[in-house]
Amino acid sequence: MSIKLPFLKKKQKKPLNDFELINIPSHVAIIMDGNGRWAKKRGLPRIAGHKAGMDTVQTTVRAAVKYEVDVLTLFTFSTENWKRPKLEVDFLMKLPKEFLHKYLPELMENNVRVETIGDFDSLPAHTREAVQHAKEQTKENDGLLLNFALNYGGRDEIIQAMKQIVTDVEQQQLSAESLDEHVFANYLYTKGLSDPDLLIRTSGEQRISNFLLWQLAYSEFWFTETYWPDFTEEKFVEALQDYQLRKRRYGGL
Ligand code: IPE
Ligand code: IPE
Ligand code: MG
Repeated sequence: MSIKLPFLKKKQKKPLNDFELINIPSHVAIIMDGNGRWAKKRGLPRIAGHKAGMDTVQTTVRAAVKYEVDVLTLFTFSTENWKRPKLEVDFLMKLPKEFLHKYLPELMENNVRVETIGDFDSLPAHTREAVQHAKEQTKENDGLLLNFALNYGGRDEIIQAMKQIVTDVEQQQLSAESLDEHVFANYLYTKGLSDPDLLIRTSGEQRISNFLLWQLAYSEFWFTETYWPDFTEEKFVEALQDYQLRKRRYGGL
């Protein structure tokens, strides 16, 4: 006698062409990892991986627009990535300018707004100028919010929030009693944004690496072995489909 297990049916994934635009995560965050290993596998220098990864960013932006995601937060450079060799860091700091030079017109066409989270002021001037220009150009756009986590660290974010809170309490702009989760969240770089519904990490690593420590409290996680330069629209849809099957409980029943 065979026993029917109805819950198993839920796990069957729909093919791409059957994909329904229901229960799409409003905010998708991605740890774009594996550029170095992608390059190494091909006998190329690490920076070739970063360059290829830059085009994957635009592929993913197009997918996010197509599938009606509201916010796409991309981990672009962490506060820990300064530890890398100077040549690599210098290259990474030039990439935003290159990306925007190549894709800003398309971002405008697609009604995408560019923003950043992280310690913006500590970036090299040339990086800041390119990104600032894109922020200004796109500020009236009300489609996808493309949010680059640039010189971003979750602990750094919490510390800078704490410092501002202490200052505001000292200057009687804020009473300690009124501090709650909502007030605290308004001191973070992500002020005004909803928390990520879905976190994607490529390259097979399964860790947060100091990304959005506060905001990921109840996010759904999705990992893939794919290196970032090989990430595709199909992979993105796979993550969305998996998300659609998740049951979010937030500690309730
Ligand atoms: C992600 O790829 C890009 C950044 C962290 C800037 P990596 O450069 O970390 O690639 P792997 O992890 O060494 O393969
Ligand atoms: C996280 O990747 C940072 C970015 C993707 C920008 P890393 O490659 O720096 O993380 P670890 O070192 O593997 O934890
Ligand atoms: Mg890495």
